[in-house]
Amino acid sequence: MSLTNFSNSTGVKKPLVAKNITELIGNTPLVKINKLPPGIRCSIYAKLEYFNPGFSVKDRIALNMIVDAERRGILTPGKTIIEPTSGNTGIGLAMICASKGYPLILVMPESMSIERRKVLLHFGARFVLTPGEQGMRGAISRVQAMLKNSSELVFLGQFTNPANTEIHRLTTAEEIWQAFHGAPQEQVYVNGDLWSEDGVFEENFGPHEVSSIGIRDSEEELMPQSDTIDILVAGVGTGGTISGVGSILKRRNEKIKIFAVEPSESPVLSGGSAGAHNIQGIGAGFVPEILQRDMIDEVLTVSSGEAILHSRKLALEEGILCGISSGAAYCAALEVARRREFQGKNMVVIFPDLGERYISTELFSIN
Ligand SMILES: Cc1ncc(COP(=O)(O)O)c(C=O)c1O
Repeated sequence: MSLTNFSNSTGVKKPLVAKNITELIGNTPLVKINKLPPGIRCSIYAKLEYFNPGFSVKDRIALNMIVDAERRGILTPGKTIIEPTSGNTGIGLAMICASKGYPLILVMPESMSIERRKVLLHFGARFVLTPGEQGMRGAISRVQAMLKNSSELVFLGQFTNPANTEIHRLTTAEEIWQAFHGAPQEQVYVNGDLWSEDGVFEENFGPHEVSSIGIRDSEEELMPQSDTIDILVAGVGTGGTISGVGSILKRRNEKIKIFAVEPSESPVLSGGSAGAHNIQGIGAGFVPEILQRDMIDEVLTVSSGEAILHSRKLALEEGILCGISSGAAYCAALEVARRREFQGKNMVVIFPDLGERYISTELFSIN
């Protein structure tokens, strides 16, 4: 696969002038990871979901759940959206509710970080805080109680709502697929010379010189790459991303391998029990209703410490300012990429959000 015009190859670009902020959701770029540990011959591309306007993958589902509720006539002007969330979904909903004019109530444990509360307040959302020791379960039961007492509240329910998975089938999956299949043919290097597609010699580049498609550091990088996506690695929170993207990729090419990532301290998908961890956004502690397990070839576990180390590494070595769960996904991706069977293949790893969202956490604690 050529690296030129890579992010533009979807054919669908963000508008240069958007009618409102929601039009800027989706069409996020892939970026190649360049400083891979020695011995890895698999090309790894990160899908940077922090290019969404609310800086996370959850903007996609927040918009689709709202649009779906409008289409079904459940959400009408004057109604108030309510959701138990302390994370990126809350921020995505708050951003879209501000743009569309819906009031929003977010129910969350009182232990939620101050920076998140401030962002949500800034978008005009209101909170109901529940006891910290009850965690998200406490927040969910408070929402259920509030719904019983009011017909003006609309609950979207990201863990059970099919509109979550749907938007990943329609957009995230399509963007990834088209990035590979819409791209120009792989340019072929023979002994450091660039050959065009029809085999005609074009120009002589030494293996260490800058060419029109970037710097090639060693002979090893000249090995032919697959021209399709072969592997997807994604963390599991609600399961919407992996189920939506995985189902489309598998339908188009059943040989594509799908790897799920969860915290090793809470290995529920791997058959273990739920536990506390620091990888926000994944490892909900139960098997989500919308997760399509048959999509997944293998579940990998990563510790919170490894996730943080890899997230820092991505900032230091690649200039990618991503969150902790991106570090977890990258750590798992490296484990897969080391396997012999994946030499010369292309892997896409989902990086769900922006590192700045974690300034008060351990991710930034040594700096
Ligand atoms: C911060 C964050 N948000 C969202 C997701 C996506 O999860 P899902 O689509 O499974 O809810 C992840 C997964 O890694 C994540 O880490």
